[in-house]
Amino acid sequence: MTSNVVIALTKGRILDAELDLLSSIGIVPEEDPRKSRKLVFGTNRSDLEIMILRGADVATYVEHGIADMGMSGKDVLLEHGGTGFYEPLDLGLGKCRIMVAGLKDEPPLPSRLKIATKFTNTAKRFYASRGVQVDIIKLYGAMELAPVTGLAHRIVDIVETGNTLKANGLVPMDLITEISTRLIVNESSYKTKFQAIKEIIDALESSVAVQ
Ligand code: PRP
Repeated sequence: MTSNVVIALTKGRILDAELDLLSSIGIVPEEDPRKSRKLVFGTNRSDLEIMILRGADVATYVEHGIADMGMSGKDVLLEHGGTGFYEPLDLGLGKCRIMVAGLKDEPPLPSRLKIATKFTNTAKRFYASRGVQVDIIKLYGAMELAPVTGLAHRIVDIVETGNTLKANGLVPMDLITEISTRLIVNESSYKTKFQAIKEIIDALESSVAVQ
């Protein structure tokens, strides 16, 4: 393990906002991660490195202490389970909701529903909390197609503008939880690299407060 502080970011559409936030507290990668195939980048600070990962992997790298800190969607953290790290800050990026959705013109449904989702743990917890038994069907994308084709009765998915639901003849039904990007910190890094990590958390907190 390096004595540097390693920050894991999520690649994809949220990366721009994550890099802007880091830049707002004076941390800039030596090379633009969006224009490179590299996965680890030095920064303008010799004690800081940035790692670019798939969203679902940020929590795993932070849990195992390979990355000391990370920026990860709450949707992914809820699926991951969240052990081995703290979640000190809501970064306020990537705001959306996890919702149950179904066909706008829904036919009569059986008492035991089939629910298609990639958020299987979140969906299981939601229905268990309501005491409702369902069958979960794991999908990796294009969830909206499941009720349309008859694969499932309803879906549990991310809704941002609602345009994808609408375009596929679906409507939002139940709000499961609000989602945003969170800062996570490995528990032992927080002790061993306390000063550097605390400075970054405080700077991010101030920056988020004025966004
Ligand atoms: C997400 C989600 C919906 C869509 C919702 O998919 O799964 O399909 O965004 O956004 P909207 O309410 O603004 O229409 P994403 O584009 O992230 O792709 P994915 O299939 O990889 O989840």
